[in-house]
Amino acid sequence: MAVDMLLLAIVTLVFSSSSASAELQRFEHPVKGDGSLSLLVVGDWGRRGGYNQSHVATQMGKVGDELNIDFVISTGDNFYEDGLSGLDDKAFEESFSNVYVAPSLQKQWYIVLGNHDYRGDVLAQLSPVLRQTDSRWLCMRSFIVNTAIVQFFFVDTTPFVMEYWTDPEDNHYDWRGVAPRETYVANLLKDLDTALKESTAAWKFVVGHHTMRSVSEHGDTVELLENLLPILKAGGVDLYINGHDHCLEHIGSRDSPIQYLTSGGGSKAWRGVYTPNADKLHFFYDGQGFMSMELTERDVKVAFYDAFGTNLYEWSVTKEVNASM
Ligand SMILES: *[C@@H]1O[C@H](CO)[C@@H](O)[C@H](O)[C@H]1NC(C)=O
Repeated sequence: MAVDMLLLAIVTLVFSSSSASAELQRFEHPVKGDGSLSLLVVGDWGRRGGYNQSHVATQMGKVGDELNIDFVISTGDNFYEDGLSGLDDKAFEESFSNVYVAPSLQKQWYIVLGNHDYRGDVLAQLSPVLRQTDSRWLCMRSFIVNTAIVQFFFVDTTPFVMEYWTDPEDNHYDWRGVAPRETYVANLLKDLDTALKESTAAWKFVVGHHTMRSVSEHGDTVELLENLLPILKAGGVDLYINGHDHCLEHIGSRDSPIQYLTSGGGSKAWRGVYTPNADKLHFFYDGQGFMSMELTERDVKVAFYDAFGTNLYEWSVTKEVNASM
């Protein structure tokens, strides 16, 4: 009997670790009493408070308080330069817990991984142990957050990018649970495609670390334009939200309703690169800052702020409520 049980346990284990095409994990987040939702988005931040990270954090606290935010999204590159070295890496406290200290930021954080996170111990960032150290922390590879008005699809974009696999700078990437790339990416795209097509949410937002469209240092990410964008278009996605370029951007598509929002100004910025492309550039700020979002079933309002809390740019969009629904 005991042997049978053990065998069953082993079979279950092997199954769950090798079933790469598991459904995307879903979380529910309640909206406010009036049916609205507000949140902040920050990316590319963990530098122990340096490079204005602390100033950005202070201003996030103020705006977070004014908007009574429900949660915070991190677009990745959570810890520089090489992610976390393990569960006991003090960078977790020094770059996260001890930096985002404002009362309004003591909310759930939904976090994706960036390429710099992949240069450390990825399993540490994904570990529930960190949630015991700081209950705000929720970092996963790809997952879904459901709310009554919007569905967020978080996508692990680092494995898409070929150059990390060919390792041009000889950096080590932690591909445990990811390699081989082709299988991982294909399964993720299939799961995302299914989830997007099944979704009945009024708004569909996708969050990933890498840019799709950008006029800054890294520019467009061709692997995402080729592989991910067609699925977002077919799935009726409204916004793609990313970091990676250390700036703030709003770019509109010419070939679909999708809007690209970059919030990657969490710390080191001022790259001094501006390469215009064929997209509709609405806003670009090369320095530090963050983004806020205020949502109702009909309206989305986005704003960008700098390290002093100055409101740099606002953009809003209204969705006609479909009468047949
Ligand atoms: C901090 O922010 C200020 C204002 O944007 C900027 O002038 C300064 O260069 C920033 N410091 C760093 C290290 O980026």
